[in-house]
Amino acid sequence: MKDKLKIGILGTGARGVDCFGQILKNRDDVEIAALCDTNSVRRRAAAEILNITPNLYASVDEMTAIEKLDAVIITTKDSEHYICAKKALLAGWNVLVDKPLATKAADGKELIELAKKVGKTLMIGFNLRHSPVLMRLKELIDQGTLGRIFIAENREFYDGGRTYMSRWNRFFESTGGLWIHKASHDFDIFNWLLGFPKPLRVSSFAAVNVLDKKHLPFELEPGKTPGPGCNTCPYQDKCQDKWILDDNAMKLWGEEAVAEDGYIKNLCMYTSEKDNHDNGLAMVEYENDIKVSLFETFIGSKSDRIYTIVGDKAIAEVSLMNRRITITPRWGGEIVTYEVPYVEGTHGGADPALVETFCKVIRGEITVNSTAEHGLLATALGQAAEMSRRQHRMVEMSEIL
Ligand SMILES: NC(=O)c1ccc[n+]([C@@H]2O[C@H](COP(=O)([O-])OP(=O)(O)OC[C@H]3O[C@@H](n4cnc5c(N)ncnc54)[C@H](O)[C@@H]3O)[C@@H](O)[C@H]2O)c1
Repeated sequence: MKDKLKIGILGTGARGVDCFGQILKNRDDVEIAALCDTNSVRRRAAAEILNITPNLYASVDEMTAIEKLDAVIITTKDSEHYICAKKALLAGWNVLVDKPLATKAADGKELIELAKKVGKTLMIGFNLRHSPVLMRLKELIDQGTLGRIFIAENREFYDGGRTYMSRWNRFFESTGGLWIHKASHDFDIFNWLLGFPKPLRVSSFAAVNVLDKKHLPFELEPGKTPGPGCNTCPYQDKCQDKWILDDNAMKLWGEEAVAEDGYIKNLCMYTSEKDNHDNGLAMVEYENDIKVSLFETFIGSKSDRIYTIVGDKAIAEVSLMNRRITITPRWGGEIVTYEVPYVEGTHGGADPALVETFCKVIRGEITVNSTAEHGLLATALGQAAEMSRRQHRMVEMSEIL
């Protein structure tokens, strides 16, 4: 094996530290050579939490001017993915962009052209593609178990999603909307499971129906204002949704970090300003009469993705959380249930597997499975769903791609 891969991380927040930082740090074949974050407290705290001594940078420009890296992983907020990926590619680095590829399809297209021009890998961090449950489902579909698929749905319940309303994730400007930020994963999984049929048109409805000022889950008391963050909120004892950051998290998100850029990680999810949704429904019509629907809600304590996929030979029902796939044949016969074994690691083992793939790709041992083109397609579907919900109309994919 050649020398250790020198990898940098751009954006040392939750994903940069708790996911990729921890995974890379525990690999023998990788050196985390550089960390970059616009917030000086966070980049220093990241090095401390990971117990490493990389070079630290305040901007992608500083980092690209000095570092010689094999690759960089981009875990900034979504709206910075495009510019960070562009500069990293121009520096001659291979790039793994955590989802989404970009917040606009046009930016994604430009990145794909640039990666081709500079001859570097641009991979998209669709970790769900590495989920053992979805990989087993894909195998069953590819073996023809379901036959010709014509309708599918995914109902996503995400408890952690309520914290979107506390962070930059609540704004369209930072994300391109949650149909891109969150659902690009899910659109990609449909595309992949179905064998990448061409999407034709998209409709969606979405809104904030619970996580707003009108629906505070406690009575306000005179002279007591909720927030700003949960750690200092006077209603901590009454709020079932409070998100208290522990001492380790406060190294990244405490007062000193907030003083620098005003980013309060656990802003009150009810009173915060926002223009993204807390629940919604999107539908896509593909070529060959294939239809899918995606339901997502960030209300409630349940977290799961529950799929139903119907083909002309059988129906598959899947719970990602319970790691269970049930196949019911069309004309009766044996109903088969597959229990997929537990795998260690964040997102059901999907994140370490994603990093393993990326390392092999940059060593030239395998080709990319989740390509930037797949990232573009998912971003474009999310963009269409955002247009649909905001403009109250069905959107043709030809308007975007
Ligand atoms: N694949 C998944 O399952 C998954 C899960 C969560 C988040 N994500 C993605 O990971 C990314 C990061 O999300 P997060 O929750 O870790 O966010 P975060 O807010 O915790 O961290 C983002 C960090 O990026 C820094 N930053 C912002 N702009 C920067 C720039 N231009 N240069 C350098 N640093 C910059 C911020 O200061 C912050 O420290 C997002 O794109 C998100 O969509 C993916």
